[in-house]
Formats: sequence, structure tokens, C-alpha cells
Amino acid sequence: MGSGTTLIEAKLLGRNAVGVDINPQSVSISETNLKFQCETNARIFSRNGNAADLYFIKDNCIDFICTHPPYANIIKYSKGMEGDISLLAVDDFLEEMQKVAKESYRVLKKGKMCAVMIGDVRKYGKVIPLGFRVMECFLQAGFLNKEIIIKEQHNCRSTGHWEKQDKNFLLLAHEYIFVFQK
Ligand SMILES: C[S@@+](CC[C@H](N)C(=O)[O-])C[C@H]1O[C@@H](n2cnc3c(N)ncnc32)[C@H](O)[C@@H]1O
Repeated sequence: MGSGTTLIEAKLLGRNAVGVDINPQSVSISETNLKFQCETNARIFSRNGNAADLYFIKDNCIDFICTHPPYANIIKYSKGMEGDISLLAVDDFLEEMQKVAKESYRVLKKGKMCAVMIGDVRKYGKVIPLGFRVMECFLQAGFLNKEIIIKEQHNCRSTGHWEKQDKNFLLLAHEYIFVFQK
């Protein structure tokens, strides 16, 4: 959920939605951001929980999944919170994402889509293709690749340095939106 962007869009579009975030602070921020009047009658639920264990959602009952996980530990969303995958280095992060992919596959209806936004990371000047490694987790869970969308990043820390940067590597200025089909 983060700050609730996806739930806000669901509400505006009149789509029933359940949002999940491991961090109770994210739940309360999202609930505050969702306090606005709109003409739709969407039923929106926010839930403090772990995307790697969606025990409170039955098999084959969700029409669409939209998820934006942390990019391993590039930005830490909590301090020492159990289950927060933003505290994990790449290998442990991918192990948890495998569970997220498996749970996503379980709860989604057959034929429906699961969209995942994720970016790559760089360590010691080398690119770690986190996006494609997360993609593999979803393929291993049984999903098929429907689309790979490249999302150009604007107004991020690297934007102004893209052309005039003086280091011997290119700055990452895109993210992926993988659209998987069950
Ligand atoms: C990149 S942010 C999402 C931002 C969101 N798209 C928005 O617009 O605000 C990633 C979120 O994943 C949450 N998170 C980390 N580990 C999680 C887990 N195991 N299950 C569910 N959410 C988790 C973090 O608390 C954080 O809010």
C-alpha cells in the first residue's frame, strides 16, 4: 500500500480493493488519504499483513493484483520491523519475493493479471538486475509474461545528472512494470 496510491485509484475507479502492507504506519497513512468523497461505491479495505502470507484471502478470488514492492534494501521503510522486506539484502529479498509470487498466484483468478512495479539497483558500480530476478520469481510461481513495460523515471535524484554525470556508469532512470497472467 505505501501511502495508498493504488487504493485511492481503485476508489476513484469504483473498483473494490484490498490493500496489504506490513507497516501499520502505512495502513494509517493510507486510511487518512482515503478519506475523501467520491461518487463511486467501491468497497476499500486496508490490512496490516505480509504479502508473503495472504492467509486471509481465499484461493482464486481476486480479479487483479497491483504490487509495488521495495527494491530490496535501497529504501528502508521501517526500523527492524519483522517481515519488512525492505530490510533484506538481494538474496533474502528474492527468497521472500518468491513467497509473494506464490501467494499472488494462489489468490488470483485463472486468466487474470498481476502487475508488479520494480526497478534495478546498483552496487559498487555494477547493476544488479533486480527487476528481471523478481520477474523470474513470478514465472517460477506459474505466471506467464503478458507485458514488460519500461517506465521512465522523472524527477528522481538522478534526473538532472543523466547527461552531465562524471562517473563511469550510466544512471538508472527507468523502472519496469511486469504484467503477468495466471
Ligand atoms: C515501494 S513502497 C510502495 C509505495 C506505493 N506504491 C505508494 O504509492 O505509496 C513498498 C511498501 O512495501 C511495504 N512492505 C515491505 N515488506 C512488506 C511485506 N512483507 N508485505 C507487505 N508490504 C511490505 C513497505 O512497508 C512499503 O510501504
